[in-house]
Amino acid sequence: MKNEIKKVIESAEQTIKSVDSIHALMQLKSKFIGKKSELTSLMKQLGSVSKEERPEIGKILNSAKQKIQQFLQTQEQNIKNAAYNHSLQKDMIDITMPGRKLTKGGLHPITKIFREIEDNFISMGFDIAEAFDVEDEYHNFDALNTPADHPARDLSDTFYVKDDILLRTHTSPVQIRVMEKYKPPIKIIAPGRCYRNDNDASHSPAFHQVEALVVGEGINFADLRDVLNIFVKKMFGDDISSRIRPHFFPFTEPSAEIDIACVNCGGKGCNICKNSGWLELGGAGMVDPNVFDALGIDSEKYTGYAFGMGIDRVAVLKYNIPDMRMLFENDIRFLKQFS
Ligand code: DAH
Repeated sequence: MKNEIKKVIESAEQTIKSVDSIHALMQLKSKFIGKKSELTSLMKQLGSVSKEERPEIGKILNSAKQKIQQFLQTQEQNIKNAAYNHSLQKDMIDITMPGRKLTKGGLHPITKIFREIEDNFISMGFDIAEAFDVEDEYHNFDALNTPADHPARDLSDTFYVKDDILLRTHTSPVQIRVMEKYKPPIKIIAPGRCYRNDNDASHSPAFHQVEALVVGEGINFADLRDVLNIFVKKMFGDDISSRIRPHFFPFTEPSAEIDIACVNCGGKGCNICKNSGWLELGGAGMVDPNVFDALGIDSEKYTGYAFGMGIDRVAVLKYNIPDMRMLFENDIRFLKQFS
């Protein structure tokens, strides 16, 4: 009997050590220590063992069962450890691997220029004003002293939405909206988009302007000249010269046009400046008293200057862009060059 028990232990140890699943292990458990196991049937035979031998054999049988239970426990732990290690291996992340690169977007050249202009004017004490792209005739023309028969109101220049509603043809209506709302002193710029029925290499039907309006007591033409000078130098560098020429705008008196020396040829004359040596930036002038009067601002007490400049032209010159329409096509290959 001792021999048989020894054999059972040996065979249990070997078989148990060889399995690698919990399911198989459970089957071995019933095989070696279950009700129908060899060990159990040996235990049942204990009654037929002689009285003298019985306690010893009983002890051996009990310790055999304990041993087998120990084998089962140890193997169960081994199997679980192996599974855990396997999952650690499988789910391992290599934290030294290089990450995926994020591609960064960039600002549109017009946005960049707007921001630069805004910063420049904010540093001179200006506020930023905004109004609507869709305007009415009153704010776009009438309030700006532009009579009904003025050529600027021509249907071929202006995009009408319906009756007296249109896409603003300049940022000047922002002047009116600001003066309707605020009393002098006023010192604003208004960057924004405008629309005219124009389309060639140097004109896009949508374009950008920056308007400025300064109203207060004792504001004069020299103040205007000063601010324009500072602006041009900040935008194009200290060496660039600028000039103002007499001109006509219905909403300013006197009125002027602002030119800068051609950025391309430095004033010598080239195809960009049409051999004149100068490039036109925009219009300016002293606010016409008629405009103040219509808005209920005392034109005896207050004076003001205003100007409006085309910004796409500035972008084109600054970044050497061959066709103004490229600013509006949103071709990613073009835009990437500015990021
Ligand atoms: N609004 C004019 C234009 O689009 C430009 C302009 C001229 C604006 C004179 C002004 C100004 O504020 O005073 O051509």
